[in-house]
Formats: sequence, structure tokens, C-alpha cells
Amino acid sequence: MLSSKVSTALNKQIELEASSSQYYLAMASWAETQGLNGVSGFLYKHADEERMHMLKLIKFVNERGGHGVVPALSQPPVKFKSVKAVFEEILKHEVKVTNEINKLVEITLKERDYTTHNFLQWYVSEQIEEEALARQIMDKIKLIGDDKSGLYFFDRDLETFAVAGAGQAEGGGKGK
Ligand code: FEO
Repeated sequence: MLSSKVSTALNKQIELEASSSQYYLAMASWAETQGLNGVSGFLYKHADEERMHMLKLIKFVNERGGHGVVPALSQPPVKFKSVKAVFEEILKHEVKVTNEINKLVEITLKERDYTTHNFLQWYVSEQIEEEALARQIMDKIKLIGDDKSGLYFFDRDLETFAVAGAGQAEGGGKGK
């Protein structure tokens, strides 16, 4: 059974994963309107992964006798300045998610909830991967600079990234 502290903290994380999904979905839709199909494909996939992160939490909370609450969400931005701005935001956002996961882990230790602590290890590893991927993409963007043909190849490259990311997500899902 979850303590009320752990339950509240997990529900807060459910909200963060849900809003991450909406945020990346808004980015995907914007990128699609810009003709950036590789970028949008990657971001749609990313939005799906965040939804999966949220679902995994909801199911865990319910399994442990709590109630995973589906949160209300505010509207994410409609337009973005550039591809670079999008990925800068993603990296910043993922660092924030990592910090929140770490805080959650701390709470489970204080509450001596080792089951939830164990469950959260999946999120700890997932955040390492997500941050690394976001940094890798930012490095590529920095290399391109303002070069338009560079952006074309970057967009094409990201289609492959999106496929690779999907494989990782499936693998992660099986490990639960
Ligand atoms: Fe679910 Fe990207 O953190």
C-alpha cells in the first residue's frame, strides 16, 4: 500500500509525464507544418513514449492500492522559433524531469517504500537515455548552424533516430 506522501508524489509525476507528452505533441505538429517530416516523426514518437511513461505510473499506483489520477493540462505553445529552440527546450525539459524523478526516489527512501523505489529505477535509467539523446541531437544542431542544406540532412537523419528510439521504448516497456 502506498503512503499518502508517495501517492501524491507519483500523481505529480503522472501530471509531468502527461504534460511532457502534450508539449512534444505540440512540437511535432508545428514541425509537420514546417515540412520537417523527420523532426515531426521523431517528436510524435517522443510524445507517445511520454504517454507510455504516464500510463506505466497510473497502472503502478492503481496496483498498489492508490488511484492514478488523469490530470487536467494547460495548452502547450502552438509555434516555436526554430528546430534549435525546440531541441533546447526538450533538453531543458528532460533535465527537469530527471530532477523530479530523483526527488521521487528520495521520497520513497524516506518513506521506506522499497517497492516503489525499485519500480522507479526504470525511470532513472530512462532519463539517462533521454538526456543523452537530447544532448546528442543538440550537438548535431550546433554543427549545422544556419546551413539550410544541413537542416535538410538533419531532418532526414532524425527519421532514423525516430525508428531507433521506438525500438528502445519497446525494449524498456518489456522490462517492467
Ligand atoms: Fe518521461 Fe522524457 O521523461
